[in-house]
Amino acid sequence: MNTGNKIRAEIAGTGIFLPGKVLTNADLEKTLDTSDEWIRTRTGICERRIADEGESSSTFAIQAGKMALKSARIQPNELDLIIVCTSTPDILFPATACFVQNGLGAVNAAAYDISAVCSGFVFGLSIAEQYIKSSRYRHVLIIGSETNSRIVDWSDRSTCILFGDGAGAIVLKKSEMNEPRGLLSTHIHSDGGKSDLIIVPGGIGKKTISHEAIDKKEYFIHMSGNATFKVAVKRMAEVSKEALDFNELSVEDIGLVVPHQANRRIIDAVTDKLGIPKEKVFMNIEKYGNTSSASIPIAMHEASKAGLIKPGSLTLLVVAGAGLTWGAALIRW
Ligand code: UT7
Repeated sequence: MNTGNKIRAEIAGTGIFLPGKVLTNADLEKTLDTSDEWIRTRTGICERRIADEGESSSTFAIQAGKMALKSARIQPNELDLIIVCTSTPDILFPATACFVQNGLGAVNAAAYDISAVCSGFVFGLSIAEQYIKSSRYRHVLIIGSETNSRIVDWSDRSTCILFGDGAGAIVLKKSEMNEPRGLLSTHIHSDGGKSDLIIVPGGIGKKTISHEAIDKKEYFIHMSGNATFKVAVKRMAEVSKEALDFNELSVEDIGLVVPHQANRRIIDAVTDKLGIPKEKVFMNIEKYGNTSSASIPIAMHEASKAGLIKPGSLTLLVVAGAGLTWGAALIRW
């Protein structure tokens, strides 16, 4: 239950960056045993964006971060913390967030990465919420940024058709007000017993990097699509209910659902289970595919720019992904 604490975490601004290079289903038909029709009907995806040489999760994150700062009317030196949510960091270390901090000139911000794969942004939001509601920080920049194209096996038709690259960012700001507004609550969960469902098995700390592991494609995404699909639907519906119950709200109170864009059929199944009408569900999967941790902040930015998020309305963010991890957040605008 919401405690009525007057310190709120508000969304002060949003930003995105999508690389210019577009890979369509028709392009994939040329190199894979697949079809535009199969991909559209099974996933809802028509095209995705792909990083070019010289682009990476940090370059995307810097651009999305700049846009979010501009829309929040906040200078880089006012940031207290930068959290980059990514499972495709530029390099093993330092953290991608440190490159982003430098690129933004956010000299007063601590910066680190978190790894919760597709659920990364909601997990990052949950961390930032604690810093703000405890009055530790005033301004936190949370960025989901991914270059999935670098870790998909482009010869595996069951995975490579799904993923895309891009970044989405928000500035979370401390504000004090009586009415329950801004980020109402976040709810996050993990089940490491299901870590095999979506995995990049190649070792960094586990075993020495070898030519053999590279030849066995251990540094690419391996996924049990069907099993992931089923558990994602179950967990996303469950955690949505948990978020509503926690705030003593009901499905009818929701103005818009901004779900993780992994598969149109997953989104349909979750929202059907919850009884949420299609017109209250935002989708942009057809343009970008699954951009992992970037998916929700990109969708939230686009929904807001399209005028679909009205002042005072309630937005539900909901996700499931590798780990297994899943989570939800409720925001009153
Ligand atoms: O962000 C969270 C992480 N990921 C997800 O949430 C993904 C969850 N899973 C999915 O989205 C779906 O399971 C997929 C889109 C990956 C696959 O759809 P599906 O309806 O579960 O298909 P399937 O894996 O059961 O495969 C059905 C058939 C198979 O052929 P057979 O064995 O029936 O002859 C596959 O080989 O479809 C075949 N297939 C394809 N055919 C054409 C798999 N990929 C393709 C493809 N083009 N790209």
